[in-house]
Amino acid sequence: MSIQSEIQRRRTFAIISHPDAGKTTLTEKLLLFGGAIHVAGAVKSNKIKKTATSDWMEIEKQRGISVATSVMGFEYRDYKINILDTPGHQDFAEDTYRTLTAVDSVIIVVDSAKGVEAQTRKLMNVCRMRNTPVIVFVNKMDREGRDAFDLLDELEAELGIQARPLSWPISMGISFKGVYNIYEQQLELFTPNKQSISESLAFEDIDNPELEKHIGEKNALKLREDMELIEGVYPAFDKEKYLAGELAPVFFGSALNNFGVKELLNCFVEIAPSPRPVQAKERVVDPYEETFTGFVFKIHANMDPNHRSCIAFVKVCSGRFERNVNYKHIRHKKMMRFSSPTAFMAQKKETLDEAFAGDIVGLPDTGTFKIGDTLTSGEELHFKGLPSFSPEMFKYIENADPMKSKQLEKGVSQLMDEGVAQLFVSQYNNRKIIGTVGQLQFEVIQYRLLHEYGAQCRWEAISLHKACWIESDNPVELENFKRRKAQYMAKDKEGRDVFLADSGYVLQMAQNDFENIRFHFTSEF
Ligand code: G4P
Repeated sequence: MSIQSEIQRRRTFAIISHPDAGKTTLTEKLLLFGGAIHVAGAVKSNKIKKTATSDWMEIEKQRGISVATSVMGFEYRDYKINILDTPGHQDFAEDTYRTLTAVDSVIIVVDSAKGVEAQTRKLMNVCRMRNTPVIVFVNKMDREGRDAFDLLDELEAELGIQARPLSWPISMGISFKGVYNIYEQQLELFTPNKQSISESLAFEDIDNPELEKHIGEKNALKLREDMELIEGVYPAFDKEKYLAGELAPVFFGSALNNFGVKELLNCFVEIAPSPRPVQAKERVVDPYEETFTGFVFKIHANMDPNHRSCIAFVKVCSGRFERNVNYKHIRHKKMMRFSSPTAFMAQKKETLDEAFAGDIVGLPDTGTFKIGDTLTSGEELHFKGLPSFSPEMFKYIENADPMKSKQLEKGVSQLMDEGVAQLFVSQYNNRKIIGTVGQLQFEVIQYRLLHEYGAQCRWEAISLHKACWIESDNPVELENFKRRKAQYMAKDKEGRDVFLADSGYVLQMAQNDFENIRFHFTSEF
């Protein structure tokens, strides 16, 4: 197969949802269709159960599992599918944001009873920043949920995207009959069954009186009315709009019962984008270019304290990656070759000889990589687009063992390179501040510093509201601002100016008083 067609047939995506909406269940069903696993229950949820937050071994184990299921590749029809897993726990949301920079599209799972939830809204914002195409799967139709039209309205309002149903539920909960597959014009009849696929009948014309035989008079009438409304209210499905991230096709089903999943997958492989061009600082890189380029979007530590090695996850952006070929590590300005890169096929890791644009390659790492590092066949390129978001929690980090200050320094620096949290250095008192999305990250840092670096840290409270990256075209005003706010100025790891606002009010005032300063809530601007 030519490199062109190899790239063309790749579909690299992530499934995102609010915890408990059914991401793990859906992932598992997709793997079943791909023949990557054979029984349900084989995929372990990588979410960290709420009850386990204080049980370290449990978290270690669960993070260990999530390495194995970080990327799941499998073949389906003529397509090579790569599902990138994202941590379910919201304290690791930053990991998810970064994973979203490595995918070409996204499937959002929504619980039919709960609708759009907080985490989904946040993740959708990240998709919108990069115009990532999204498909929505409304799950748990076997339970009493919300009215389908209300859900569509909510999706549009909350996610800021036009919705277009491509399947439509026939009743719900205990009387759930199935869905009408608008995309393929088929009637999919529901039989609750966790392992096998339900019946589908070609049904081009829903006015056909046969419909009553299958779903009863009342449901048939309702379906015809609903379809009329859908065709009247929603514009026809426009693939280009979907690819531009402006319109989200919506499917309904029940992942647990393996219902509506195959329809989703069949439509997904046909409409979802193959690898898309990626923006580097210097230029846009087309996936079909012959030379290899890629970037590190995730680093996963090996949880075995005796082997402090990591896996760097590289997204291949263009061309072909080959084992034992020299590539340039742009930041280190040196050539490197990799003798044991790994591919992730379903739940197995295996050594790969080659990979193509769209694929994820795992490289064993002992501290050479940092999130965002670029590898190329030789060209000086820097991929951008791995934003840091303003953290939500902040603490001073202090050394608790004066004999181990070097270890602490090294540990903190490496953990930040891995993207575990963000480090800011106060320009006022030179103290180090760690910013995270959730409490759990502080615990992970403290634990890993001790177990992997032999360093001990102590946290000290600091009351901050947000970190904003600031810039201005007016150097005098910028200097003036920094002087006035000296107590709240810090540098991030790249040496950029960050304003640490201690309240929403202070931030608002600063924005009003300094009109020529731009305040950014992500590091990508
Ligand atoms: P997540 O990864 O998004 O957090 O969700 P996950 O798949 O773990 O699903 C959360 C819960 O919802 C699970 O139940 C799962 O069985 C259930 N679920 C998923 N899809 C459906 C569906 O289509 N219908 C119904 N009725 N339930 C569904 P649990 O009790 O938390 O876990 P488990 O003991 O069943 O594993």
